[in-house]
Amino acid sequence: MLRQKAAPVPIKDIKNKDIQDLIDNMIETGVDNGGVGIAAPQVFQSLQIFIISSKSNPWYPKAPTVKPTAIINPTIISLSKDKDLSWEGCLSFPGVKGRVSRHKTVTATFLDRNGKQKQKTFKGLLARVFQHEFDHLQGIMFTDITDPKTFVTEKEYQKILRKASKK
Ligand code: NI
Repeated sequence: MLRQKAAPVPIKDIKNKDIQDLIDNMIETGVDNGGVGIAAPQVFQSLQIFIISSKSNPWYPKAPTVKPTAIINPTIISLSKDKDLSWEGCLSFPGVKGRVSRHKTVTATFLDRNGKQKQKTFKGLLARVFQHEFDHLQGIMFTDITDPKTFVTEKEYQKILRKASKK
């Protein structure tokens, strides 16, 4: 499932109970438990839906608190040339963290959970989470593109995190 390309959601289906329940379930699973994002293939639905959210952390101390937002059938229309190397993890790879290079900003079109067409530019942590979750819809895992020298266990990561928090 995680290696498949996810299928677009038909617009007429977005307001159906099963899709709305799936979105609520993803928010509960992926964000309410301390994460910042989750994609439908991670809950065994090969559909183009993901959730992104944001909150301050030691790598993105200025990240605003953004409540979970559903992104459906996304298309990336532009990416900044500037990139940023920072830490990522994934619910599908518990206990592993690594540093991944991502574009600093991403502009995309997508449908929201009401089926409305949107265009938005995401920056900082949200841009990183967007790219991580977008990759899930293409069957790409963060571990495929992590700088291999930077893989650490959760325990080592927590140590690095504590050091960064003291700065
Ligand atoms: Ni992930």
